[in-house]
Amino acid sequence: MSLLKVLFVLVTIAAACAGVCNGGVTSSFVRKSQPSTCMPIDTFPPPPGYNAPEQVHITQGDHDGKSMIISWVTPLEREPNYVIFWEANSKNKHKIHSRITSYRYYTYESGYIHHATIKGLKHDTLYNYQLGTGDAVRRFSFTTPPKVGPDVPYTFGDLGQTYDSNETFEHYYSNPKGQAVLFAGDLSYADDHPYHNNNRWDSWGRFVEKSMAYQPWIWTVGNHEIDFAPELGENVPFKPYMHRYRVPYKASKSTSPLWYSIKRASAYIILLSSYSAYGKYTPQYNWLEQELPKVNRAETPWLIVLLHSPWYNSNNYHYMEGESMRVMFESWFVEHKVDIVFAGHVHSYERTDRFSNVRYNITNELSTPVKDPSAPVYITIGDGGNQEGLANNFSEPQPSYSAFREASYGHGMLDIKNRTHAHFTWHRNHDNEPVAADSHWMLNRYWHPEEENN
Ligand SMILES: *[C@@H]1O[C@H](CO)[C@@H](O)[C@H](O)[C@H]1NC(C)=O
Ligand SMILES: *[C@@H]1O[C@H](CO)[C@@H](O)[C@H](O)[C@H]1NC(C)=O
Ligand SMILES: *[C@@H]1O[C@H](CO)[C@@H](O)[C@H](O)[C@H]1NC(C)=O
Ligand SMILES: *[C@@H]1O[C@H](CO)[C@@H](O)[C@H](O)[C@H]1NC(C)=O
Ligand SMILES: [Fe+2]
Repeated sequence: MSLLKVLFVLVTIAAACAGVCNGGVTSSFVRKSQPSTCMPIDTFPPPPGYNAPEQVHITQGDHDGKSMIISWVTPLEREPNYVIFWEANSKNKHKIHSRITSYRYYTYESGYIHHATIKGLKHDTLYNYQLGTGDAVRRFSFTTPPKVGPDVPYTFGDLGQTYDSNETFEHYYSNPKGQAVLFAGDLSYADDHPYHNNNRWDSWGRFVEKSMAYQPWIWTVGNHEIDFAPELGENVPFKPYMHRYRVPYKASKSTSPLWYSIKRASAYIILLSSYSAYGKYTPQYNWLEQELPKVNRAETPWLIVLLHSPWYNSNNYHYMEGESMRVMFESWFVEHKVDIVFAGHVHSYERTDRFSNVRYNITNELSTPVKDPSAPVYITIGDGGNQEGLANNFSEPQPSYSAFREASYGHGMLDIKNRTHAHFTWHRNHDNEPVAADSHWMLNRYWHPEEENN
């Protein structure tokens, strides 16, 4: 316990306020402003070999981590359409065929997009897998998560946008602690290019492969996944994303890949879509209403939600865009004691104290957020870096709910220790990886709902 106290003291000192400050800390660190330009499209060329599998990525394939979805693209031919996999300490090889999809977008034609679901994996086990044949064979590996349980330690990397953010990506990649990535949406930014140039989806897939092929990225969608362009005749929202990225939504009784849940180690993770209907009676609303009571905190103490557009964001950029969703769902999050909500979208970092704003009823004038021990901590981590540049215009004074905010790029690490304690750190790109620009002990809302010092 004394170690913990020392850490609290350190955090308190770090959070001491300098200058005008109603809420918490507005970090004075200002990143050198440099134009954020796109990496040329050929920065990540296809791998060598005829029809070589590329853009390899994996994600959890079921509700409790005994399955993995392996996805890849073969550019020229449908075959080979299988993955060979084996336990690292065994010679016993297995083969699973993929389901193949492809799509057209305006004048773009995709390659053959493969998705293969490997089931019945052992927990906590290293597997190798192999794609391609002949001179185009490629090998990768992944480790399955430990069996779901209340005191299973696990470390999630938390990333916002990564497009054009070689720096953020490399920075996260250099940290060996992350076992899986919680990704708060906005993947390729292909839609920022003329005619939503879908070749950018391919080059992004090659760019991030060196992480995504080895550890599961848990997806939620951002506005840059919508790709809705009626002027190009493209009227189906999320078309490129849905062809390329698969999630195990049926395992959580969802009717759409855009919202779902998984369990991993001691965490229950709910992924919501800020860009799908969430009003009363809509499919997402109905699903979430039934989903939250299902979470068994004796099995998975940590209840984490990911969504794209933040509900608590004191940056003028995208200010209040998450408000309508907050109005619909915040009271449920408080009722069910969600521990942490991760959001992206805003290109800066912000962490709140436990505040809620659920009393307001139009006439009672109670519209100011108040301290609430049952409320989540909201973390906006949409600071992966992107071509829209940093959002360095915070509203003043800093609102009381805002504990720490800084306009620079970085990534987070959520280190779950046991059912009561998790340590969150935020690492700005500018620093060496071991340096945490912000750090915070999270105390579990169900098992240890005490006030967190900050
Ligand atoms: C990305 O970052 C890594 C590590 O800093 C560097 O070696 C590499 O050249 C960078 N790539 C690009 C395309 O900027
Ligand atoms: C709104 O809240 C006030 C104060 O709590 C209460 O008196 C009033 O009846 C509420 N209005 C409605 C429509 O529920
Ligand atoms: C910051 O945001 C405010 C409110 O939207 C706006 O009035 C102001 O012009 C912005 N400042 C800069 C430097 O962009
Ligand atoms: C949980 O982890 C925290 C932080 O590492 C530690 O202080 C505490 O003793 C642990 N609790 C148990 C029951 O092991
Ligand atoms: Fe966004």
